[in-house]
Amino acid sequence: MQSFRNLPANVIQDQIGDRLQITYLTGPQVSFTPEEDGQDVIAGLTAAQKTLSPKYLYDDRGSELFEQICTLPEYYPTRAEISILSQYAPEIVQITGPCELIELGSGSATKARILLDAYQNLGGSLRYLPIDVSGGALEGSARELLQTYEQLHVHGLVSTYGLALANLPPSLLPFRLIAFLGSSIGNMPPEECQLLLRQITQALEPGEYLLLGADLQKDRAVLEAAYNDRQGVTAAFNKNSLSHLNWRFQADFILDQFQHLSFYNPDRHQIEIYLKSLVDQTVTLKALDLTVKFQAGELILSEVSRKFDLVELQQDLQSLGLKPIQAWTDGDRFYSLLLCQLQG
Ligand code: TRP
Repeated sequence: MQSFRNLPANVIQDQIGDRLQITYLTGPQVSFTPEEDGQDVIAGLTAAQKTLSPKYLYDDRGSELFEQICTLPEYYPTRAEISILSQYAPEIVQITGPCELIELGSGSATKARILLDAYQNLGGSLRYLPIDVSGGALEGSARELLQTYEQLHVHGLVSTYGLALANLPPSLLPFRLIAFLGSSIGNMPPEECQLLLRQITQALEPGEYLLLGADLQKDRAVLEAAYNDRQGVTAAFNKNSLSHLNWRFQADFILDQFQHLSFYNPDRHQIEIYLKSLVDQTVTLKALDLTVKFQAGELILSEVSRKFDLVELQQDLQSLGLKPIQAWTDGDRFYSLLLCQLQG
């Protein structure tokens, strides 16, 4: 977690039209200051198990590649989640009634549209509060939404999740639903995940809702194919984080000297994604004044994607006061969407 001293000074209100408001809780350019930002790279690449923060996967090229991953035949999670949402959104909004929609990690807001359509069919006001660290993506998708939905009001928060949840603007509708989709919960270590779920419970009033997307445990071959596609898009996506380090920190990673590697760890119920050094080599990251040695075969951990047991997940949520109201899955039972309600 980044720290935000002087927070009030960073809070900038940006009124654009009367239906769009964007609040920057994080300075828009903060994450591009190498002095502040490269510290995690130094820590990660000098650790015994070398690691790279997954955020380096997502520069412009990385975001494009990830969009492509979502359309691959082997990568089922996005398709499964969208099909569950499309099928059950009317049922979800029937249960919650009219709600403000808060979305953690809104990106292009494709999934939000499915829920907004359903809320629109219920009638009444429509309000959407997207939370994303990328101000550009947030504003772009918000403007497109406002063109589609004439009754919609959007208040975006450019922020990390914890900070946004602690600083939500006052509710304008009687109820709220926080959506956390894409099984991003699986990309967080368990402690971080517990913390975020606590922050969610603190942001909600009793009776309000969490809609959580979670990828489920399944046959190893299906999982491994999803993270090792035949066209090599996943490999390009993973290796792009090295290009990202090259431009951002004046590094000299030679991409051909690293290989994408991912496999299922059945003891931990998680996909582990690595970059493997193919040779003994030394890499320099000039802007960070850092030189890193790699041995042939050495691994850099780039991402973990945990897979859930639906019953266990429901128990964990229940013990945090988030009572599972309903769980929906796709026909293959690959993926699940859980609606929980905060208990009083
Ligand atoms: N959130 C995605 C997931 O866990 C991230 C992802 C998909 C990913 N494919 C990847 C991350 C390949 C690194 C490499 O499913």
